Amino acid sequence: MKPSSDHGLTVTGHAEVCAVLDDPRFIVPPAPGRAGDEEPPGTLGWLRRHVSRFSSGRAHERRRALVRAELHRVHPGSLRSAARDRTVAELERAGEEPLDVMARLARAVPVAVLGSALGVAEADLEALVRAVTAVAAAYHPGAGAERVARADTSVGELAALLGPGDPEMVANRIGLLVQACDATAGLIGNTLNAALRPPPALRAEWPVDAFAAETLRLDPPVRSTRRTSREGAELGGREVPPGTLVVLDFAAANRDPRVFPDPHRFDPSRPGPRHLTFGYGRRPCPGDGHGLALACGVLEPLLAGYEPADREVAYEPSANLRIPLRLEVQLR
Ligand code: HEM
Repeated sequence: MKPSSDHGLTVTGHAEVCAVLDDPRFIVPPAPGRAGDEEPPGTLGWLRRHVSRFSSGRAHERRRALVRAELHRVHPGSLRSAARDRTVAELERAGEEPLDVMARLARAVPVAVLGSALGVAEADLEALVRAVTAVAAAYHPGAGAERVARADTSVGELAALLGPGDPEMVANRIGLLVQACDATAGLIGNTLNAALRPPPALRAEWPVDAFAAETLRLDPPVRSTRRTSREGAELGGREVPPGTLVVLDFAAANRDPRVFPDPHRFDPSRPGPRHLTFGYGRRPCPGDGHGLALACGVLEPLLAGYEPADREVAYEPSANLRIPLRLEVQLR
């Protein structure tokens, strides 16, 4: 545990991150903006005020139940095969030409497959992907005015594509797609980057799932999350004053040598998923199995027959996400 530059705390140990995420005295910081019913319907502010991700208490329980019920209807196995089919079709379209995996697959296929499973018509999937990507770019606090304006328009489009229905339900269906978008794209990009480096013979030793699991630990697409302390909160026996911002550093905790022997080595044969990249405790990611299925469906055809076309990878500018900007591959 160490003080952060903004006078909060950063927690880096595995046990300590788990303790905070399991403790009701640490809550998700509320989204910025006006009170829930004062945000104009169909805007980014309205979305943030109605989704499970930024809620606490009773509202969170109710919204999380909505999300889980939606996800329960969607089988990860069918997401995986649909993602594989769409990827193969896109690779066939590219033929011998190098292809940017991030733009054409990682940022498009998971959202299209999930959208289709949630009932969006095939003809609307391109518009869906565009709108979800625009909202994801402004979803977390701190986005600039231009991105927020684009996201406002896109939330309206998404409400039309995913409605009609109870506004809270529609907001949480949009929330599902937005949560899935960047994190799954980052998981695909980072796994591919790790898995295509070893020689093909070595690559073939492990299933794609093992590469993805070890990437989630060592090169997580979501690097951290945040909580705010309430009255009476403590950590490691020390009081944490109410209102303290606490950053939970997954990337560091996933390399805690007390939990992961030889923590900096990429080793797809490690037992069990003890990484914290899907969160932990009171409100972990409800879409972990779905995200993994979507990512593995996209990765399978790529690992089977492609190699990197460029060596250097640049990343999107972000404090807590690690997503390659571009990742070109070509046929082996
Ligand atoms: C594949 C990569 C993914 C990663 C690394 C990831 C990671 C996370 C993490 C760490 C949280 C918890 C944040 C916190 O405790 O503050 C979270 C929440 C959430 N995730 Fe994911 N996620 C992924 C994919 C998905 C997918 C595919 C879906 C939907 C199908 C999804 C839906 C959600 C939702 C709705 C929440 C909010 C839950 C709540 O607060 O009740 N995620 N995710």
